[in-house]
Amino acid sequence: MELGGAFTIFLALCLSCLFILLAWKRINKGGKLPPGPTPIPFLGNLLQIRTDAIFQSFMKLQEKYGPVFTVYLGPRPVVILCGHEAVKEALIDQADDFSGRGEMATIERNFQGYGLALSNGERWKTLRRFSLTILRNFGMGKRSIEERIQEEAGYLLEEFRKTKGAPIDPTFFLSRTVSNVISSVVFGSRFDYEDKQFLSLLQMINESFIEMSVPWAQLYDMYSGVMQYLPGRHNHLYYLIEDLKDFIASRVKVNEASLDPQNPRDFIDCFLIKMHQDKDNPQTEFNFKNLVLTALNLFFAGTETVSSTLRYGFLLLMKHPEVEAKIHEEINQVIGPHRMPSVDDRVKMPYTDAVIHEIQRLTDIVPMGVPHNVIRDTHFRGYFLPKGTDIYPLLGSVLRDPKYFRYPDDFYPQHFLDEQGRFKKNDAFVAFSSGKRICVGEALARMELFLYFTSILQNFSLRSLVPPADIDVTPRISGFGNIPPTYNLCLVAR
Ligand code: HEM
Repeated sequence: MELGGAFTIFLALCLSCLFILLAWKRINKGGKLPPGPTPIPFLGNLLQIRTDAIFQSFMKLQEKYGPVFTVYLGPRPVVILCGHEAVKEALIDQADDFSGRGEMATIERNFQGYGLALSNGERWKTLRRFSLTILRNFGMGKRSIEERIQEEAGYLLEEFRKTKGAPIDPTFFLSRTVSNVISSVVFGSRFDYEDKQFLSLLQMINESFIEMSVPWAQLYDMYSGVMQYLPGRHNHLYYLIEDLKDFIASRVKVNEASLDPQNPRDFIDCFLIKMHQDKDNPQTEFNFKNLVLTALNLFFAGTETVSSTLRYGFLLLMKHPEVEAKIHEEINQVIGPHRMPSVDDRVKMPYTDAVIHEIQRLTDIVPMGVPHNVIRDTHFRGYFLPKGTDIYPLLGSVLRDPKYFRYPDDFYPQHFLDEQGRFKKNDAFVAFSSGKRICVGEALARMELFLYFTSILQNFSLRSLVPPADIDVTPRISGFGNIPPTYNLCLVAR
């Protein structure tokens, strides 16, 4: 027994030394990382970080260490950037250095560096260029993206009319309609709202976004090296994404069987044509894996972000009925009751445009941003970040930067209006991030948000089931994403 005990202590000592050595090596791999709380072996800065409020923990550390600091997520050092200036200096002024994608352990097992959103180097460049071209071309094709959104908004309005003003949870009303827009680009067609498979895909996407944001996921991000081998809730996300991958792979097979290279119908067809053209090139990035995973990136990101923003937006408007009333007024003046809203109306509707920006600012869909890393040894603000150092640009800290927003925590559309009531740009509006990795769906998302908000409010008024003062707008879960609270509302025909 005694020998066993001594051996355990000896083993623990050896392991501790090993971890200290590894941590020390990481700190000193030629780098001079920004200051931060002292990590302990293997656990890193777990004692300073609450996994159920990770963004808030970082904001607290910023008070002590300033806008640029280092934390250890487990054994891994990550440089945190807070506020507009620091994020801009990195993502814009040194855009190329900071253009790498950092580690996202929760979903790395599914993506393994493939697909647009999680890839790096030449693979990322190729996939990004290709995806942007397709998103643009399908906007300029026979039917514009604007027409597709208008048509989808029409279907949503029909669904809302059927509720006859009864209370509903808007979640899947919104995700079905929004998802159909990106579906028509990626898969060439929309889904019927009653399609059971469609609803189950949307449920999987919604659940995955939640799973990426719960405290388990933050813990997994820190200790994936060990946790990936353990059973537990963190594995649920892996299976959800595998199911989504299987669905996309099955759609690719359907496209392959009916492909006409002269008449590409959608993103998948265009990618398949490229694969065919490059079939003799062993280096090509146009392969099955990149096709499935990029299509999944677009389908996933194109669904959850816009629908969560609309859902959060409804809640904020119900809490501030005077703002909703002003939007109704602007719609009456510019669009009237009879014709559909169009993108051209946006410049004539500065108040609505400002409200949508303010909704996005407070929704703050990915408060810590999507991790970046430096693609080469990088000098930044007097520090030296070795190639491969992970970076968290805290977009939430920019969106609430008190130097740029007068009332950072309040819903105040005037943040985006000048004295004359004209729309006023604000450089700290980084809901889509900035620099080389800026969201590829930005133009599409902005179009969708404007057309959905105006179409819905042209036809309906929002009614909360509780008095505005009692509406709680705190996110239900806050981690990788901010998940809006669950609520019911009534849509009353105007
Ligand atoms: C309100 C809506 C949206 C918001 C707030 C949003 C926000 C973001 C953010 C913050 C990033 C991370 C950028 C970075 O790494 O610094 C991102 C990346 C991305 N978004 Fe969006 N997004 C939205 C809608 C969309 C839509 C509609 C699509 C689909 C077309 C899309 C596809 C992507 C993709 C593929 C990336 C990865 C880009 C890359 O790694 O190069 N997003 N988005």
